[in-house]
Amino acid sequence: QTIENFRSDLLSWYDREGRAHLPWRENTDPYRVLVSELMLQQTRVDTVITYFNRFMKALPTVFDLAKAPEDQVLKLWEGLGYYSRARNLHKAAKVVAFDLKGAWPESYEDLLTLPGVGPYTAAAVASIAFNQVVPAIDGNFFRVFSRLLKIDADIAKPKTRRVFYDAVAPIVDPKRPGDFNQAIMDLGTSYMKTSDPDTLHSPVVKYNAAYRDGVEDQYPVKSKK
Ligand code: ADE
Repeated sequence: QTIENFRSDLLSWYDREGRAHLPWRENTDPYRVLVSELMLQQTRVDTVITYFNRFMKALPTVFDLAKAPEDQVLKLWEGLGYYSRARNLHKAAKVVAFDLKGAWPESYEDLLTLPGVGPYTAAAVASIAFNQVVPAIDGNFFRVFSRLLKIDADIAKPKTRRVFYDAVAPIVDPKRPGDFNQAIMDLGTSYMKTSDPDTLHSPVVKYNAAYRDGVEDQYPVKSKK
């Protein structure tokens, strides 16, 4: 009951006020989702928009990327940094285009086998492109759900991902998992951002246990390493 209300409050807010204009949200092509998620892991949204549009214009499909010379790919990545990510993306495109003949892996587990695709990226692509019901856990996600559910696990510890996965997997909307994950990203960069959040006006304030108890500023729990 509460979970269903939470989903519907979150998604109706997302439908009204989410960032639908972001270019990688135009459709759910797994290639576009993969490229955008890899770019977004290291760079701010505003900057990624330009790089993403340029990349898609030059290499519109996974086959174009697979066939492209490495220096073209690196050139398109120039300024984003972390070139290993571009090299891995190129490798992943070759696997999908040549080895798999364009048949994308669709499950979280199968996506994890692609070069450079870790738990976050696999979950983002699985949910957004293939409607798999998995939580895509990044920094935003830790912040939002540590506050909503008052999860005290230390997010600096690798094992904590599992704690959040198990807590939130049953909450992800089974009909719209990709939108659910992207709504959390939008929430985590607006009403529930790190500094100076506006929790009171958040669309899900009534489900926020940390805010209710006046301890929102204590979440997420993160030890210094
Ligand atoms: N950050 C990471 N993935 C994102 C997405 N799909 N939309 C907006 N911000 C993001």
